[in-house]
Amino acid sequence: MKTPIYVTQPYLPPLAEFIPYLEKIWENKILTNGGPFHQQLEKELCEYLGVKHICLFTNGTIALVTALQALRINGEVITTPYSFVATAHSLLWNGIKPVFVDVDPNTLNLDPAKIEAAITPHTTAIMPVHCYGHSCDVDAIQKIADNYNLKVIYDAAHAFGVKCHCGSVLNHGDLSVLSFHATKVFNTFEGGAIICPDAKTKQRIDQLKNFGFVDEVTVVAPGINGKMSELNAAFGLLQLKHIEEALSRRREIDASYREQLVEVKGILCLNGKNQAADNHSYFPILVQANYPISRDELYQKLKDHGIFARRYFYPLISDFPMYRSLPSAQRDNLPIAADAAVRVLCLPIYPTLDTDQIKKIVNVIKEVSKQ
Ligand SMILES: Cc1ncc(COP(=O)(O)O)c(C=O)c1O
Repeated sequence: MKTPIYVTQPYLPPLAEFIPYLEKIWENKILTNGGPFHQQLEKELCEYLGVKHICLFTNGTIALVTALQALRINGEVITTPYSFVATAHSLLWNGIKPVFVDVDPNTLNLDPAKIEAAITPHTTAIMPVHCYGHSCDVDAIQKIADNYNLKVIYDAAHAFGVKCHCGSVLNHGDLSVLSFHATKVFNTFEGGAIICPDAKTKQRIDQLKNFGFVDEVTVVAPGINGKMSELNAAFGLLQLKHIEEALSRRREIDASYREQLVEVKGILCLNGKNQAADNHSYFPILVQANYPISRDELYQKLKDHGIFARRYFYPLISDFPMYRSLPSAQRDNLPIAADAAVRVLCLPIYPTLDTDQIKKIVNVIKEVSKQ
């Protein structure tokens, strides 16, 4: 039987390297609640990512929910329909109304030129997504936020290690939220984090993720349990030792796809603004009208060859039942996102994807183009 090629495969360092971390946990019997590995991972991630403060979480979704709580966001929040559903779900979990705004045709990130028209007296914040790890137009978004006194919370689930013109993209906005899910560039099995600019905000977030406790007898907010365990933090520390090699292999795979697909008519490889500072977390292509078959047909054809590409992001968040009756969810408000959702296909990309597998994937796409 052919070995299936999935869109991603989690990066797992050699098991033997993880054993000493487990021995340490067994020795000191600290499993969670901000233990030594948790503290060490926060410190090492701040250094690696070039950020001031980080709060580790059990996953990215709880981190998003908590970020909104930390800034006391309510009313309406402007966001993108072109993302993983957790982006908008975090708003609903806070009783906030999502207001969908269309995306930029080149980056598929929230289009700053369309944000202003969606602002109402109830708008309190903007929640953009650095989709595929391609950075948003952070300066344009900040300008609008400043003009209208709005907070900006970036869903940076895809943007681990991504840089922009002034350093880490994670330093933009009021808060940035990362996911360390198994499918991500940097994973802790499950996990996430909030990047914040000052110690006071970190303290509030740390309280919120620990039920609102300040000390044994004082609870200052209706917090949640969002703490990352020692096991996950230990795995993160080990991952961090291998991250450069994982990123560099991703860069090579990205370049190889681009080189081989450049002349295939009807296939457009999506570009980040700054290829060199990308993390190559995904490899999205857009199947254009002049390609002989549709995106769904290509998706199926690849599947027939044991290649499991994914249609990220289809359907649009705004098409799910809990959102589709919102005025901003209507199709004529989101033409660019709607078009991208039926054309996009994310090809497999992960550090152990080898040259032969890339060739096999490219060949299926090329063969169709010759029809
Ligand atoms: C854009 C985006 N936001 C949020 C999440 C949620 O993160 P998690 O799975 O860690 O809860 C994900 C992915 O899983 C995502 O892709």
